[in-house]
Amino acid sequence: MAVMIDGKTRVCGLLGNPVEHSFSPAIHNFLAEQMGLPMVYTTFCVEPERIVQAVQGGFALNILGFNVTVPYKQAVTPALVGLDAAARGIGAVNTLVRQEDGFAGYNTDWLGLQKLLARSGIALKGKRVVLLGAGGAANAAAYLCGYEQAAEVYILNRTVHRAEELAGKMQTQFAATGYRAMALSDWTKIPGRDRVALQTTSVGLYPHTDEALIEEDAFYQKLSAAVDVVYNPEVTGFMRLAQKHGVQAVNGLDMLLFQAIAAFELWNGCEVPQALVQKTEAVLKAQLPGAATKRGGRR
Ligand code: ATR
Repeated sequence: MAVMIDGKTRVCGLLGNPVEHSFSPAIHNFLAEQMGLPMVYTTFCVEPERIVQAVQGGFALNILGFNVTVPYKQAVTPALVGLDAAARGIGAVNTLVRQEDGFAGYNTDWLGLQKLLARSGIALKGKRVVLLGAGGAANAAAYLCGYEQAAEVYILNRTVHRAEELAGKMQTQFAATGYRAMALSDWTKIPGRDRVALQTTSVGLYPHTDEALIEEDAFYQKLSAAVDVVYNPEVTGFMRLAQKHGVQAVNGLDMLLFQAIAAFELWNGCEVPQALVQKTEAVLKAQLPGAATKRGGRR
């Protein structure tokens, strides 16, 4: 259906660089059209030295809201008038919401992951978690683990000092969860079984669909659930290895979908009905085949 644009139409958009492969316009324009809201969503490819100016200019232009993606999730902060608790805790912003005097920064990535886990029946409370990666998506996942009072989180990363920094940052916020950092190759030292693994790196992303960050069978025998933030391909190498050992495996598509829905609801002060969530998921899936990227933590 064609979007009706008139004098009352409000604009939202994605700030990033690059932005042209984003699925966010498809999600948000579909939601707006289906809910009959006068909103359009586009992308804004911003040069690094202009990001603060872009946010301030967007506010002056009465832009309704922005999403923020790589490489600006931290760099937008100086342009903002406030941060919500999660954006502060995670140290990254993916959604900007208008206030009286400027944009405030929110993070809906962790909410997307929270929804994904809830939908898949994977609980974190009291659980032992293995978090693979220490980048942007891992920060959101580590925050969710603390928020949900996971018992312990082993953070494994190729570059150990990033895992150590993340563990330290989260430990100061969440006393009930024990964070530990490790080198990726040290996974053999993780004791016990029945762990929830959250795979937040880009390994296995299309077109490298046969790759998995850890390929040894013994790793997957430690798991009860395996979540990959990669969603293209639909079944990643990591998921395939988990499934081989009878472990529940989920991809990151719902994280992408629900971070977008959370942002849409913040901008429009509405609640997206369940039936529309399902229709939007179908629209999103239809976009995927052959798509050049993507991961749940990105948009
Ligand atoms: P994002 O914000 O999307 O999470 P990022 O901050 O660049 O992206 O983080 C990417 C994550 O994937 C990091 O944990 C990175 O490990 P390093 O910190 O060692 O770079 C991990 N990663 C990417 N490619 C990898 C590879 N080939 N092997 C192991 N880890 C990889």
